[in-house]
Amino acid sequence: MLDPANAPGRSEVAWPAGIAPPVPPALEARNLHKSFGLVAAVRGLSLMVAPGEFVTLLGPSGSGKTTTLRMIAGFTAPTSGVVLLDGRDVSTVPPHRRNIGMVFQNYALFPHMTASRNVGFPLEMRRVAPAQIRRRVAEVFSLVGLEGLEDRHPVQLSGGEQQRVALARALVFEPSLLLMDEPLGALDRKLREGLQSEIKRLLKRLGITVLYVTHDQEEALVMSDRIAVIRDGGIVQVGTGNDLYEHPRSLFVAGFIGESNIFHGVLDRVGGDLVLSSTGWSMRVPGPAQESSAFEPGSQAALVVRPENVGFGPAVGGGSPGMIGRVELRARASAVLRVGAVWRYEFELPDGQPVRASLPAGIEQGSFHAGDDVMIYWMPEDCVLLPADERGGAD
Ligand SMILES: Nc1ncnc2c1ncn2[C@@H]1O[C@H](COP(=O)(O)OP(=O)(O)O)[C@@H](O)[C@H]1O
Ligand SMILES: [Mg+2]
Repeated sequence: MLDPANAPGRSEVAWPAGIAPPVPPALEARNLHKSFGLVAAVRGLSLMVAPGEFVTLLGPSGSGKTTTLRMIAGFTAPTSGVVLLDGRDVSTVPPHRRNIGMVFQNYALFPHMTASRNVGFPLEMRRVAPAQIRRRVAEVFSLVGLEGLEDRHPVQLSGGEQQRVALARALVFEPSLLLMDEPLGALDRKLREGLQSEIKRLLKRLGITVLYVTHDQEEALVMSDRIAVIRDGGIVQVGTGNDLYEHPRSLFVAGFIGESNIFHGVLDRVGGDLVLSSTGWSMRVPGPAQESSAFEPGSQAALVVRPENVGFGPAVGGGSPGMIGRVELRARASAVLRVGAVWRYEFELPDGQPVRASLPAGIEQGSFHAGDDVMIYWMPEDCVLLPADERGGAD
C-alpha cells in the first residue's frame, strides 16, 4: 500500500549500504491540470500507484476521470503537471512508446478484423514476427478464456466476449501499466459482477499495475487495493475501501461510499460538551470531534452514521443528548422494507430528516408499523463529525 504522504521518493540521495533503494511508483501523476477552453476538467490531480497495485479512480460523471487516463496514456497533453512511469517523466514520450495497455467502455475493436487479428494488432504494429504473434495471441486467448472464438468478428461476439477481446488486446504486449476506463459499464449487472472478480483475479495473477476507472462504488470496492475518490478534477481522498468507509474525511466521500445518514446542524457548546443541533433534535458529537479545533461552536457541521450502526426501539422516556454515552433521538417509523440480505427501517426525525437503519435479514428487531413513535440511537464511536460541505454533499 502506498500512501502519497510517505510514498517511496525519487530522491537523488545515496542509500545506506545493505538497504534496498526505494522502488519508484509504477505511476505517478504530479499536479496534473487540463483545461478545455473555459472548462477546467482536471485541477491539480496527484496520485501514485505502486508496482503491482490495483488502484481505482472513483468519481461521478464529469469529474475528470477519462481526461486523467488520457493524459497518463499520452493521448491528451496536460495543460500543466507531469506523468512519471517507473520514476521517469514521460511528457515527451508518445502513447505507443509508453508501454501502457488501455481498455475502454465501448471496446473499440476493429470491426473488420477477426478477434485474433484484433488481439495480435498491437504486436503487428510493433513488427513482431508472425510466428511469435500467433504464439502470444494463443496464450492471451487462453488467459482471458476465449479459446475457440479466434475467428469471429466483433459483431459475432457478445458484449462480455468483446470486452475480453479488448482486455486480451491490451495485455498481449505485456504492458507495464494497464488503464481501464469503465470497461464493464455497458454490460448487464450479472455479467458485470462475474467479470469484476474474474478480471481482478487475472490481473493480480499477472502482477500487473492497474489504474481502473469507474463511477460505481461497489465495483471500486470489489476490485481495488486502494480507491482514489475524484471530484471536480481533483483527488479528495485515497485509501482502502475500508479506510474510506470507516474514516471518510468529507461528506462527499461519506455519501459516495456506502450508505450514510447525514445529520446537518449547527455546533454549540452545552455544559462543556460540543453538541450538534437542528430543529427538534440535538446530539453530543463523538469524542475525537469534542477535542478537535476544526469544529467551532456556531459553525455548520454534519454527523455521519451508517445504517448498520443505527439501533431502535419503542419510544420510552425523553431523548436527551449523551444519555449513558449513547446518542438517542425520538423519531417516527415510516417504512420497513426487505432489501435483499437486509431489512431496511426508515424513520423520520421531528424536522423531517429521514434516517435509515439496516439489520441483516434473519435478525428480527420487534415489529414496527409506519407512524409508530420510536427511539433511535447509536454509539458515539460509530459516527463521524465532518465539516459542512459548501456544495451540499455527494453529487
Ligand atoms: N475534449 C473536450 N472538450 C471540452 N470539454 C471536455 C473535453 N473532454 C472532457 N471535457 C469536459 O471535462 C470534464 C471532465 O470530463 P471527463 O474527463 O470525460 O469526465 P468523466 O470521465 O469523469 O466523466 C467534463 O465537464 C467534460 O465535459
Ligand atoms: Mg469518462
